[in-house]
This record gives sequence, structure tokens and C-alpha cells, in this order.
Amino acid sequence: MKKDTETIYQSVLRRNFTRREFVKMCAVLTASMGLDYSQNNTVVKAMEVSKRVPVIWLQLQDCTGCSESFIRSSHPKIESVLFDMISLEYTEALSAASGHQIEEARKHVIENYPGEYVLAVEGSIPIHDEYLMIGGVSAKQTLLESAKHAKAILAYGSCSSWGGIPAAYPNPTGAKPITDLIKDKPIVRVPGCPPIAEVMTGVIAHLITFGTIPELDHHGRPKAFYRHRVHDKCNRRAYFDAGLFAESFDDEGAKQGYCLYKMGCKGPTTYNSCAEMRWNGGVSYPIQSGNPCIGCSESNFWDNGPFYTRMAEIPATQTTINPEMVGAGIVGAAAVGIAVHAGVTAFQKHKDSSKEGDE
Ligand code: SF4
Ligand code: F3S
Repeated sequence: MKKDTETIYQSVLRRNFTRREFVKMCAVLTASMGLDYSQNNTVVKAMEVSKRVPVIWLQLQDCTGCSESFIRSSHPKIESVLFDMISLEYTEALSAASGHQIEEARKHVIENYPGEYVLAVEGSIPIHDEYLMIGGVSAKQTLLESAKHAKAILAYGSCSSWGGIPAAYPNPTGAKPITDLIKDKPIVRVPGCPPIAEVMTGVIAHLITFGTIPELDHHGRPKAFYRHRVHDKCNRRAYFDAGLFAESFDDEGAKQGYCLYKMGCKGPTTYNSCAEMRWNGGVSYPIQSGNPCIGCSESNFWDNGPFYTRMAEIPATQTTINPEMVGAGIVGAAAVGIAVHAGVTAFQKHKDSSKEGDE
């Protein structure tokens, strides 16, 4: 395997793009990394000298949903990521090679690019070797061998980040997140089932541009993409604040696009960029399509159910009245447990109208 000496800029020009288009691509990258536009020049300069980064992408106990999501990135376009930014040397889903040939390719990367390549991991690790063997080698051994000389590790998806669906009760394979096995490498958790395509490419773009992993929160997630709750930016938030809730999937409230909190929406306790970045190139996301958020990027979401049943608690700062008291047609229900500021809004409205009446 010959070392790649071409810079990302040279690669873009070789594919007959102009300097102007290269600068535009950098502007998209800047935005996709969650950076301010003032940093665009830094990104341009970095892309002029950075080389494509070799990537080993392991699929362990997974459903291939993360790979499926990744190849749908629109900003940056997946062609640009695959042809200009990374060199995807090993992936079960996309490689033309298979069997011994592809296993050799993985070993070549480890030997020829120590400290330079990025390891992306999709899927969780079974506790017993015999549950998952790849080319006669256990998943655990493949992971440890691939991680040993990696520059950084990207835990793509809720399975590699938290254990995921394979870890759902009774967890027959003893599925674990990769952080349980690897303690001596920078690991970025990019949870979601699957993660948003542009979040996946945004994280790898940051690594290539700055040579370091992005700033992480206390769970190891990139702050740029996991700093807000889905609820904070939700397109139905105005209805929540007004105390207007759908009570079933086919009632008038659902048709009007009311808040799905009473239908089990976990947006108030889920940290992800869905409401800001949306899916399929910004077209929509679960809540916009009429489905409550099931909290797929949160740890243990698979056992935090049942889904579609009101479970989410509104974290503090957000008041004191039960949504039962402000929902359509429900009067006098017990104010137990969950408190929302929807109630405060309704209370304020009531106060204002009483005042008007007095005047
Ligand atoms: Fe949106 Fe769910 Fe919050 Fe309602 S509860 S505003 S649907 S995130
Ligand atoms: Fe998952 Fe909720 Fe987003 S279910 S895709 S975190 S809206």
C-alpha cells in the first residue's frame, strides 16, 4: 500500500473542481462542524495542507443503520468525504474486497499508518467471544487490535456508545459499549440510532481539519451537536408552551400538529441535533413527521420504555404544573409528578384575561 501524499485541496482540484468550489466546500464544512463562519479561513488553510485520513470502520453487533446514515450525508456531500477527506480502507458494508483480502487491508492500515488512522466503530461488543467472530477472530480482539495504534476512535451510534439494542434486557450476548474495553485512546461518542449523517461527517471533518477531537461534554459527546435537548429547538415547542397536546395519534390535536409530550415524547430529556439539523438533508425529523422522540441517542433508551407512553420528566427550571391540567378538555386532574412550564403559560394567560375582565 502506497502512502497517500496528496493534500485534500490537491485531491479536489484533481477531480476538476475549481478553487472557488473548494472554498465553498470549506464553508459547508465550517457550518457542518458547528463552527462560526469567522473560522472559515482556518478551515480553508487546514484543508490546503491536510491529507486524506485512512479510516478503519468496524461493524460489530450492529444493524448497519449507522453506515446507511453516513452515506446519506448531504453537507458535506458523501462523495466529497469519501474521495477528498478520508480513505475508507476497511468497511464491511462498502468495500469491494471481502474475506482474507479485506482483513489484510485492515492490517496494512494498522502497520503503515500508526497514530494516523481513525477507527470508526459501529455496534457493541459481546462479552463472550463466540457470539461474534470476524475472519476467525473475536470482535473483542479485532477491536483491540484495530484500536491499538489509532489516532482517535469514533463510537458511531448508540450501540458502540452505550451498548444499544443488543444490550436490551436480558442482554443475551452481554453487549458492552466500546468505552468498557478501551481506556487509553481519545474516544468520541456519536450516539443516535442511527446518528444524523451530517453529525457523523461533521465529527470526522473536525478531526481532519484541526487534527484533534472536538470539544466533548461530560458523556464524551461533541458539544457542537449534543448541547441542546430536542425539546429546546422542537418545531412543536410553541404548542407545548401553550399547553396544547395531542392526546392520541388520530385526534384533532395530532392533526393540528400539537405537542406530542402526552404521546410519550422524550424530547425534553434527549440531547441531539434532530430539531436543528433534521434528517435527509434537513427535510424532517421524527417529531415533525408525527412520531414522538423515543430518545434514541440517550443511554439505555432501549429499556427506558415503554415507547409512546408518557415517561419523560421535564428537568427543573421548567415549572410546576402537570400537563394534565392544561391539556385539551381535562379539568381538575391530579397534579402529580411531572411539572411543565406549559402550565405556567396557561396560568399567566388566565391571569391576564382576569385582569382585562376586572378593568
Ligand atoms: Fe417537541 Fe416533544 Fe417537546 Fe413536545 S415534548 S415540544 S413534541 S420535543
Ligand atoms: Fe432519535 Fe429523538 Fe432524534 S428518536 S432521531 S433523538 S428526535
